[in-house]
Amino acid sequence: MIELSPIRQELSVPYIYDVHFTFGLFREDNLSLIKTLPTDAKETPAKILIVVDEGVAQTHQELLAQIAAYAKCHQDKLQLVRDPLLVPGGEQSKNTVDSLDLILKQVNDFKIDRHSYLLAIGGGAMLDMAGYAAALAHRGIRLIRVPTTVLAQCDSGVGVKNGINAFGKKNFLGTFAPPAAVLNDFEFLTTLEDRDWRSGIAEAVKVALIKDPPFFDFIASHAAALAKRDLAIMQKVIYRCAQLHLDHIRGGNDPFEKGSSRPLDFGHWSAHKLEQLTDYELRHGEAVAMGIALDCVYSNLSNLLSSDDLERILSTLETLGFQLYSSAMLTHKPPPENRLSLFEGLQEFREHLGGELTLLLLTQIGTGMNVHQVNETLYARAIHLLKERGTHENR
Ligand SMILES: NC(=O)c1ccc[n+]([C@@H]2O[C@H](COP(=O)([O-])OP(=O)(O)OC[C@H]3O[C@@H](n4cnc5c(N)ncnc54)[C@H](O)[C@@H]3O)[C@@H](O)[C@H]2O)c1
Ligand SMILES: [Zn+2]
Repeated sequence: MIELSPIRQELSVPYIYDVHFTFGLFREDNLSLIKTLPTDAKETPAKILIVVDEGVAQTHQELLAQIAAYAKCHQDKLQLVRDPLLVPGGEQSKNTVDSLDLILKQVNDFKIDRHSYLLAIGGGAMLDMAGYAAALAHRGIRLIRVPTTVLAQCDSGVGVKNGINAFGKKNFLGTFAPPAAVLNDFEFLTTLEDRDWRSGIAEAVKVALIKDPPFFDFIASHAAALAKRDLAIMQKVIYRCAQLHLDHIRGGNDPFEKGSSRPLDFGHWSAHKLEQLTDYELRHGEAVAMGIALDCVYSNLSNLLSSDDLERILSTLETLGFQLYSSAMLTHKPPPENRLSLFEGLQEFREHLGGELTLLLLTQIGTGMNVHQVNETLYARAIHLLKERGTHENR
């Protein structure tokens, strides 16, 4: 055979999307949504399929009527293909393919194409699932996210990932697919249960701890106000947290996570496992708060993090109202293995990233350090310290 040299293909695709912050997205005079819809030369209205998290629809009884009135008022710019589709919210939307199938079926029935939009309104779990549906249909239809929880507004809803759970593993199926736009409406936050109000703050603590000491100071000094649901402070926390996540995705030179290092997953190796070990009784953010606490105590036991910094971190999380210990941390595998089930999370985390196990530990507030090996005996000690601290706090 004649010698043929390889043909090199090199692509780089720019992605641009805006994350808007607003209040009352579907009030008729609010143009945030309209501004995100590019008009074509013929000025045809954008075709939109709306999907709503049932937890949101139940707590915002006026929402569906408001959306209908908004669509009518702006019919020259947008056309809803059907009444908003309601799907269950929370982790259950990622644990089966039911909602995914339902959305794909609607995309087919209503001929949503790559110039149309899926607009998803809901918490992080439902947005992850809907984003996955959008990425699969026609190899990617346009997605507008309207995150309705603190966690989704400051972290999951502004990034480039989607997914569902499979084989008992978090986010086993999913893609990297940047949205067309994100519309953060702070009004949604008023109806959150306390635990959903709180849980997203864990992601803000996480990103502050690894990147931004003044932001950690801000959270620490406003922890009591945040626990009492001060919306003005929360808006600042969400804005800065979203900004730090977006900066990292853009500036870290690895938006689609080809490398093994994932600083934004600080505290997450154990968090993902704890969610699974508790049958998703724990919210993602609640598990992240525990994961952060655990990795910080371990950092301290490894002589990386000072005791003063550790105490500030743990007491801030406690003032925010987080539990730092769960009995699931001490679940054992049956003999002869006898290992803590939690430690399977290390292996699963490595598998999910690929390559070498890479965990971020803290050396001080604002600075992390990657390690590739851990001492399980020391981690077990860290768990017992959190347990004792919890018992002491609860007395
Ligand atoms: N894609 C990513 O990059 C990324 C990052 C972090 C987390 N996540 C994922 O996000 C998920 C967690 O999301 P979450 O913390 O937003 O919780 P969630 O989506 O599980 O929602 C929690 C509950 O709140 C309800 N709800 C949503 N908005 C509401 C509102 N405004 N008022 C009242 N109730 C409302 C939901 O129906 C649900 O019952 C996890 O699956 C996690 O893995 C994804
Ligand atoms: Zn997270």
